[in-house]
Amino acid sequence: MARRTVLTLTGASGPDTELDTILAPLGFAPADVAASTAEVLAHLREAHYDLLLLSLDTLGDALGTLEHALRADPAMSVVGTGPSADPELILRGLRLGAHEFLVRPAASRDLVAAIERAQRRVSPDGRRGRILAVYSPKGGMGVTTIAINLAVACAALAPRQRVALIDLTEDDPDIRLFLNLAPTYDIADLLARGDDIDGSVVASILTEHPSGVWVLPAIERGGRGGLDAAAVTAMLAHLRAHFDVLIIDADSSRRPHVLAALDAAHEILLVTQLSLPALRSAQRASQWLRERGYEDDKVQVVMNRVSGGDAVSLTDAREVLGRDIAHTLPNDHRTCTTALARGVALRQAMPEARLTKRFETFAAQVLEVAPAAVALPVPANDRLAGRGLGKFFHLGG
Ligand SMILES: Nc1ncnc2c1ncn2[C@@H]1O[C@H](COP(=O)(O)OP(=O)(O)OP(=O)(O)O)[C@@H](O)[C@H]1O
Ligand SMILES: [Mg+2]
Repeated sequence: MARRTVLTLTGASGPDTELDTILAPLGFAPADVAASTAEVLAHLREAHYDLLLLSLDTLGDALGTLEHALRADPAMSVVGTGPSADPELILRGLRLGAHEFLVRPAASRDLVAAIERAQRRVSPDGRRGRILAVYSPKGGMGVTTIAINLAVACAALAPRQRVALIDLTEDDPDIRLFLNLAPTYDIADLLARGDDIDGSVVASILTEHPSGVWVLPAIERGGRGGLDAAAVTAMLAHLRAHFDVLIIDADSSRRPHVLAALDAAHEILLVTQLSLPALRSAQRASQWLRERGYEDDKVQVVMNRVSGGDAVSLTDAREVLGRDIAHTLPNDHRTCTTALARGVALRQAMPEARLTKRFETFAAQVLEVAPAAVALPVPANDRLAGRGLGKFFHLGG
């Protein structure tokens, strides 16, 4: 088997001399080293590389040309680096089409892990896509809003990645309404194909939204218990071969097909809000998700509609849920209603709104190129029980 090829901008991951030693066990030939972005472009015009390492802070002003060259070779994995985890640099990498971001100089272990992740994302081995289930145990918490706008932000930030949005809602599905879609086909058509799902079936049954997201709508009038759990599991396994990121609107039930999707998911975004009823139901969900055997890092809490004047603080919420709050989204009624009234994503309706911008950071974190959100510290004098809220919750020790 031919050895894999790598091109690096000089010093992108650390000393060039060490690179070959690190990469040889992964099956790479000695690296081609380019002294400048112009040389990188010249190499890319000449040959296909399996891997490209770029120091994002030393690219100069050829970003547009470079982006074009990267897009022209979707089978190449791209790892970007920078001297620190600067959000601007990380976003630049994403826009350019980098699959991974590393702080330089990278430890060889981290470099190998990033390269393997990047390669999985482009490898046609049929198992590449990452499944994210957006879930809430309670209706109306923002699951559909988050699934849609996260998918749109992922597609915008990482144009080389294929993003699917799958609606598993059975009662009153909303994605058609939110995105003003009138699709010819829906999830029932894909489920009916069984194992006969190839690229052309995917392209004909899913609907491409102008944002670049491929949408699989729910059955318009699904009704209770209509989706078969085993069929949903098989469908997701097939779709993983065709998409890099699969975002599921997993609704707020515990029906078997929803549990099947939660099982299949690599991450579950557990959506809740800073109100007592919302947190109480999220607390119960947090517990049964643990009992279901999911590792703690599979479940990430998303606190939606945070306003600053909430009845419960983020610190309290963290205490009640027994989990860090991985993501927060501001309350922004105007932006949400404007988008909804126009039947477009937030990015299209109000690109500059704080909530829209927040989805960009959220997407960067979800795409694993940005560092995870910093966990909130719990000040000793800010405990829930001390302020009388403890009676509403079971605070396990
Ligand atoms: N961050 C936010 N700021 C302001 N409004 C929001 C926010 N997130 C969601 N909303 C609004 O809350 C309402 C419910 O949102 P959404 O439909 O996304 O929730 P859901 O969990 O999917 O609900 P359902 O259980 O009905 O499917 C919508 O009107 C939406 O516009
Ligand atoms: Mg919904």
